[in-house]
Amino acid sequence: MADAEPSLRELADDEDFLIGTCVRSSALRGDPEYQDALREHYNAVTCEGEMKMGALRPSRHAFDFEAADNVVAFAEENDMTVRGHTLVWHMSNPDWLTPWTHTGAQLRDILREHVHTVAGRYRGQVAAWDVVNEAVDDDGTMRESFWFRKLGASYLDRAFQWAHEVAPDADLYYNDYGADGLGEKSDAVYDLVEGMVDRGVPIDGVGLQMHALGERPDPDDVAANVERLRDLGLKVQVTEMDVAFSRDTPAEEARRKQTRYYGDLASAVREAGAEALVVWGADDGHSWVRNWRDLPDRFRGDPLLLDENYEPKPAYDAVRDALR
Ligand code: G3I
Repeated sequence: MADAEPSLRELADDEDFLIGTCVRSSALRGDPEYQDALREHYNAVTCEGEMKMGALRPSRHAFDFEAADNVVAFAEENDMTVRGHTLVWHMSNPDWLTPWTHTGAQLRDILREHVHTVAGRYRGQVAAWDVVNEAVDDDGTMRESFWFRKLGASYLDRAFQWAHEVAPDADLYYNDYGADGLGEKSDAVYDLVEGMVDRGVPIDGVGLQMHALGERPDPDDVAANVERLRDLGLKVQVTEMDVAFSRDTPAEEARRKQTRYYGDLASAVREAGAEALVVWGADDGHSWVRNWRDLPDRFRGDPLLLDENYEPKPAYDAVRDALR
């Protein structure tokens, strides 16, 4: 990278755009180089796991905010925007929660208390919440999650209402994967959020996760999806992008395609009016693709914008060029 080039963060700051990454508080604590990379290249952060219910709720009546607070404090010290992730999800729930045979009313109380406590604690600090994450299944039906089975689809509206009650200034997002371009699932997400808008639910935006693992939705389709969501009056952010190629793909080809896809996607969503592009890891060394179940066997572990030595990759330059 030539010295005269601005960093991605500098450019994004100038363009009033969010370029973000998820953050691990364990890395933040122990690694000054990781901190430097965050400060230099990103102006927004999301907790990768620290704000999930399982992390915050060691027991029914106790909250542990230490790790999440650590990330929020770092962001504030460094003038970064915080995305809150996530208030309601079917994964990473506390061990004490799911086996218990609650009545619907008891579970509703637990969820309301959770949303009120967490969104309320970070009022004024978390700019955007992923209120509900991944409520739609891959075929476009509602996911038969723990929450859905016990509370029915009404848990979504309620979660947004509860979040709005305690954090009225935060933007409230529905966030999902595999609904980035056009297709069955993104149609279902569109219908879901359109219904919420029609019912007056306080939803502000939709997060397109953009995990491009093997499959890469056409950037024009993603732009069209962004535009139709914006036509509903909603904001759109890319919230968890990474671009991984199968281990069979030669390294040079993977690198070339990755660079091109990051650039094309960043251009397309920016042009269509998305407000943020958040990648799911500050650097390749901190990518979930390297340690999530069977992914390391299937994909190359280099899906991000910085390499594992925190050096910008060609994909980084491509995103920067796209934001200009
Ligand atoms: O912290 C424990 C550690 O104590 C233990 O030794 C270790 C053994 O497996 O597990 C550690 O917890 C892991 C945690 O990440 C922190 O590293 C969990 O097992 C693991 O399930 C968890 O994975 C996270 C996953 O969400 C589930 O919460 C990934 O890091 C995170 O990248 C991933 O992120 C999700 C988004 O939230 C939603 N969209 C998809 C995205 C990728 O799956």
